Amino acid sequence: MPGPDAARAAAILADLGPLLPSLASPALVVDLAAVDHNIAAVLRRCGDGLGSRAADRWRPHVKTLKTAALVRRLWAAGVTRCKCATLDELQMLLETAAEDGREDSLDVLLAYPLHEAAFRVARRLLAAHPAARVQLLADSPAHALAMDGWARTAAAPLDLHLDVDLGMARTGSPPSVWREAIADLASLSRLRVAGLHGYEGHLAWSQTREAAVAYDQLCDLAAAVACIGTDPLELVTSGTHSFSAALDHPRLNGGPWRHRISPGTVVLSDLRSEPAADLLDLRQAAYVLARVISRGSDRVTLDAGSKAIAPDRPAPNCRLPAWPGLVPLSPSEEHLPLRREHGALPDLGAAVLLVPDHVCTTVNLYRECLLLGRNEAPVRAVIGASGHRLYFAPDGQDTSA
Ligand SMILES: Cc1ncc(COP(=O)(O)O)c(C=O)c1O
Repeated sequence: MPGPDAARAAAILADLGPLLPSLASPALVVDLAAVDHNIAAVLRRCGDGLGSRAADRWRPHVKTLKTAALVRRLWAAGVTRCKCATLDELQMLLETAAEDGREDSLDVLLAYPLHEAAFRVARRLLAAHPAARVQLLADSPAHALAMDGWARTAAAPLDLHLDVDLGMARTGSPPSVWREAIADLASLSRLRVAGLHGYEGHLAWSQTREAAVAYDQLCDLAAAVACIGTDPLELVTSGTHSFSAALDHPRLNGGPWRHRISPGTVVLSDLRSEPAADLLDLRQAAYVLARVISRGSDRVTLDAGSKAIAPDRPAPNCRLPAWPGLVPLSPSEEHLPLRREHGALPDLGAAVLLVPDHVCTTVNLYRECLLLGRNEAPVRAVIGASGHRLYFAPDGQDTSA
């Protein structure tokens, strides 16, 4: 008996049938019903006791989606806050909101420390979309003071989150460093402390005790910073691998601040988010369509190597729901060999669907994806923020002025 994901993969392949002669592979395919189901599932978990204010608790990271059409599914569900990491993501969000006439409800946290040239581009984008709220991130007190200088011509103060290093040792400063800098932060003239960003991405789902210690540190710092920040301060924590512990933490929940979680992977789901998927009953929403390009006696090879799926993950970096007897081996750039453990082998040229171990790095490899809706023809969507730009501004304009 095939499992539910095998049945869904078979249904998706059947829907794609008429397109297969013209559809290239590898191709990224997104099941919109699963996207909507996953968004609703996160909102239900956020909303325990909150009713319609559930959407207020979630600031999803759009690094997973990078696609205007998918961001619009969040907006349609009432989720208007988000987080992003790159200027391409910020630009995609602002331009999509402008196109839809909804800039005034967009609230983005650019959760990435900006150097001066990137800061100038962010400000230009902000100036072009003044109705949208964009908050920036300070890596350290020195970075906050430097940004204050870069912003000296800003007409209105810019909202700033202090990046708090809760043990991940990637960006931000420890709580003690921020606490000692409160007097300096009070002197900022063009920046206003609007929140604390404490991303605990070093912790696994099961490390709830360590997470609680980190959240207490964040709450203690929030209490100390309250005198110089906006009222209420916003506290942003947690991705797909720890949001549930954060939602349950009494002090994050009950303080004079507003706490929000920021998982993004939950919208599409992948193999490595299994604990979250189990808790929320998530459905797999993103698949890579691949074809068999070589067939041996106990092995087939697909046209979906490390340039097509989860390039950052060790083998097996994906799963084939409809072919459980095939084990993905180490990929090369354009090839993915699969070893037969049991069952039949797919035919040469056959199309198969793969579930990525890591969906964020998979989406980033594609320029376009195919959106599959129930009872609608498949729609081609541009992944506008995948990859990386060459110049800060279009056509290499100088942005230093
Ligand atoms: C700053 C930040 N916030 C949130 C997330 C959450 O993302 P995910 O849902 O993929 O765990 C990440 C993941 O890398 C991150 O770096």
